[in-house]
Parts: sequence; structure tokens; C-alpha cells
Amino acid sequence: MSEIALVTGANKGLGHEIARQLAERGMTVYLGARDETRGREAVAAIGTGDVRFVRLDVTDPVSVDDAVRTIGAECGRLDVLVNNAGIAGEIGTEVLAITADQLRATYEVNVLGVVTVTSACVPLLRKSENGRIVNMSSRLGSLTALSTPDSRQRSRGALAYSSSKAALNVLTLLYAEALREDGIQVNAATPGRVPTDINAATPWRGDRTLADGAVAPVHLATLAPGTMTGQFRGPGTDESPGW
Ligand SMILES: NC(=O)c1ccc[n+]([C@@H]2O[C@H](COP(=O)([O-])OP(=O)(O)OC[C@H]3O[C@@H](n4cnc5c(N)ncnc54)[C@H](OP(=O)(O)O)[C@@H]3O)[C@@H](O)[C@H]2O)c1
Repeated sequence: MSEIALVTGANKGLGHEIARQLAERGMTVYLGARDETRGREAVAAIGTGDVRFVRLDVTDPVSVDDAVRTIGAECGRLDVLVNNAGIAGEIGTEVLAITADQLRATYEVNVLGVVTVTSACVPLLRKSENGRIVNMSSRLGSLTALSTPDSRQRSRGALAYSSSKAALNVLTLLYAEALREDGIQVNAATPGRVPTDINAATPWRGDRTLADGAVAPVHLATLAPGTMTGQFRGPGTDESPGW
């Protein structure tokens, strides 16, 4: 049986490209999307391999449980979870004008959504011989980068987004530890700066392609057993030059 993957927020952008590449490598891919029409169109656009739409809004635990139940019923296990869904709602607002409500809305997707989906998937991941979780993070959440005066990450002033990705990095480390005994590798990826809808309103979109941005997450999603856990990989990180 082929490996089974779930990618959240996969109807467009990087999630769609990651789903496409995993399908190309022979995985059965559940393409998670909160909107059924957009999700089904995204499956059709891939047009290759075994890609299955699953409705999944990371802020709606009922939809998450339904999605996981579907995967369990059809496949009995999950090998790869890519927590990709993310938002950046406060971009363009001055740091001191960013409200607690903006942080709450961002954390609902970027942090709490990851907890909901991960918790729901762990029982199926434990049934895999090589469970892997990939969290889509960002250098904007790197405390090292944010601690550097004049760094690009500090000057962005993305209070809600940066702090949500910093929290995601902590989740990655602590889940990695908690799932170590189960042999489930938990790592974070940064795609670098890729122009997508998430940064459409900003002047700093970068010029990487979707394929470039998918290199780190796909690498981490296809690790051999026992390779690494609790790591952060992608362009700009010391261990992955050239990505
Ligand atoms: N692009 C970059 O330069 C960059 C850099 C660093 C990190 N990242 C990270 O990469 C990931 C993907 O971003 P992207 O650039 O591909 O952005 P994108 O094109 O805006 O895609 C975001 C995806 O997340 C989905 N989503 C949002 N809220 C959701 C929810 N409540 N439940 C389920 N899905 C939801 C969106 O679905 P809808 O279409 O329904 O809104 C969409 O499919 C994010 O975690 C982002 O933080 C991106």
C-alpha cells in the first residue's frame, strides 16, 4: 500500500504544490480544504496520482474529526501530516495598532489549528511505521532572526504572524519530544519568500517559485525512519544552505 499523507490548506499556494509533489512521489494524498468547491477544483487541477479531497477547517474540530475518521476508515493509518494552513491577517498594520483580536484570529489557525489537527491525527500516525509531521513555519517566527537588530524579520513588525510562528516552533520541539518514543519525526519547514495570496498585500513577496518553496517541506515529509526530529529546515537556516 502506498504511503498516506494529509496536507491542510492545500486548495492553493504552497499546500497545493506540496500535495501535488507528494502525489507525484506515489503517496495517497488527502487534500484538505475548508471549502468543498475550492478543494474539489484543486484535486482536479493536480490531475495525477491518488489525490482525495477532504473537507477540513483547522478551526473547526468537528470537521477535523470527520476528516481523520474518513482517512482511518479508508486507509487505517496516516504516514505524513503537513500542517500547512496559515493566515497573516494583520499585515500592513503598525505593530502598536495590532489588536488582541487580530492575534487571537491568527493564533486560531496558525497555532490552535495545528494542535487540533495534530491531536486528532496522532492515533493514526502511531499506526504508521514511519510517521512524520511537518509544520509550515517561517523565519518571521525565528527568535534568532528577530533578535538581530535591523533584521528583515524584525523590521516587518508582523506581531501576530511572527509570534504565531514562534509558538509553532515551540509546538514542533515539544511534539517532537513527546512523539520520539513512537518514532514519529516532527519538524518545521520554512519555504522562503514565495509570492502567494498570503503575502499579496505586501511589498516583500520574494521571487521563489512554488516548487522552490516546497523543497524543504517535501524533504521533511519524505524522511527515512529515524533521520531527524525537532529540527527547522529551509532557506536561511544553517543546515540547509541553497534551499
Ligand atoms: N508564501 C510565503 O512566502 C510563506 C513564507 C513562510 C511561511 N509560509 C507558510 O506557508 C503556509 C502556506 O502559505 P501560502 O503562502 O501557500 O498561503 P496561501 O496561498 O494564502 O494558502 C493558505 C492556505 O491555508 C488555508 N487556510 C486558511 N485558513 C484555514 C482554515 N481555517 N482551515 C483550513 N485551511 C485554511 C487557505 O484556504 P482558503 O483558500 O480557504 O483561504 C489556503 O489553502 C502558511 O502556513 C504560511 O504561513 C509562507
